[in-house]
Amino acid sequence: MSTHAQLKQLGLFDARVPRYTSYPTAPHFSADVGPDHTRDRIAEIPQGGTVSVYIHIPFCRRLCWFCACRTQGTASGAPVAAYLDSVKAELALLRAELPQGVEIEHLHFGGGTPTLLSPAMITELTDAIKKVAPLTKDAQFSVEIDPNELDDARLDSLAAAGMNRASIGIQDFDPEIQDVIGRPQSYDITKAAVDGLRARGIDSLNTDILYGLPHQTETRMSESVQLLLSLNPDRIALFGYAHVPWMAKRQTMIPTKALPTPEERLELFNLARNLLVWDGFAEIGIDHFARPGDGLELAHREGTMRRNFQGYTEDRSDTLIGLGASAISRYPQGYAQNDPSTSGYQRTVRDGSLATKRGHVFSDEDHMRGAIIESLLCYFSADLAALAKRLGQSAERAVALADGLCDAFPDMVEITGGCVEIPDRARPLARIIARHFDAYAMAASGHSHAV
Ligand SMILES: C[S@@+](CC[C@H](N)C(=O)[O-])C[C@H]1O[C@@H](n2cnc3c(N)ncnc32)[C@H](O)[C@@H]1O
Ligand code: SF4
Repeated sequence: MSTHAQLKQLGLFDARVPRYTSYPTAPHFSADVGPDHTRDRIAEIPQGGTVSVYIHIPFCRRLCWFCACRTQGTASGAPVAAYLDSVKAELALLRAELPQGVEIEHLHFGGGTPTLLSPAMITELTDAIKKVAPLTKDAQFSVEIDPNELDDARLDSLAAAGMNRASIGIQDFDPEIQDVIGRPQSYDITKAAVDGLRARGIDSLNTDILYGLPHQTETRMSESVQLLLSLNPDRIALFGYAHVPWMAKRQTMIPTKALPTPEERLELFNLARNLLVWDGFAEIGIDHFARPGDGLELAHREGTMRRNFQGYTEDRSDTLIGLGASAISRYPQGYAQNDPSTSGYQRTVRDGSLATKRGHVFSDEDHMRGAIIESLLCYFSADLAALAKRLGQSAERAVALADGLCDAFPDMVEITGGCVEIPDRARPLARIIARHFDAYAMAASGHSHAV
């Protein structure tokens, strides 16, 4: 059997396999975790320690048909202003619980489209955050940017607030593809965003592009990548388009017949990957590329890179506090997710309560399985004994978690001396191989792992 056929048979590009930005993944959180848990977790943050903070803005001016993110369209500013008041109320609740002297090492605004905030709102929000905890001297402050939703005033306000990193949504430069995915965005608009950011000293730029879009061919992909390279980004996320119309209703607008086959998707990924590597980018994990010397590339090389809700990161904080509707926090003891309903979230925090609805408390086994999955997705390898040692757990039990792996993925994984390796040819299967260590997903699919 050819490698292509083997990859396909083993489930390549199955849209139901998680991206593992957490373990367990959010569908396996339970309602046992609520506001009291979160209050205790916050109180346990060490005095004078550092945390990361994520602010979720679940609004967009336009709703792109391809997008699988939970976000709602709004033409007016009123719902956004009301939402922001709620985030400020949540910040006040956090301030009341947070131990003395805590500082923010990483601040990230995501969504949705954070750049639909007005300049005054951006200033208000960042001032409110800094009142709860100041940013450290060399803090990273990143914002997800939709180039269509940006102007000089918002750029000035973001720069004045201390933003020093941007993640720019591009998807594809081809006008016909943009049309079919409901995401018009000229090259000039994207370039203006890049130039505007760099002119203000924001020179750590990530860009998101997609492979597997309708009507994407190798020629078009190659042209898009060349245009992308002309903008000279520091990092590139090359995401596979996830077609999940059962979750994201607006994707029913996407013509399924025009989607590339799994084999074509793989060719598109390999083509884009080769162009980026030839241009000098380092390949990072399953879908990222970074210029040598970039912080993520250094963290990757030094073995300190992590995977969290924003994907790959050099952020090593033990605590990530997520604020806003549906935002997920990660504490050393487990996860806590806010009410995913924007109206429910707003009601709860305005009534003076934290909005935690669901979550998960880590067991020792969760820590072990999560560390293996993270290592496989960051480095395509996991030294089971070394991970067990780092976590103070039994190496034998860690090695036993790989039982059956080679049978499930013949020729696609190697285990030597307690170390699991995913060879180059099997890298497109990394998420599927990682799922073998996901006790919750395996139990749900009828496999025998105890949870
Ligand atoms: C939360 S969105 C925010 C970006 C910003 N609102 C914009 O439109 O530029 C972050 C990224 O998620 C990715 N994304 C959204 N839907 C996707 C899908 N169905 N498959 C793969 N990636 C997707 C896109 O690359 C997008 O840039
Ligand atoms: S891609 Fe960005 S702008 Fe478009 S719907 Fe998704 S979050 Fe909103």
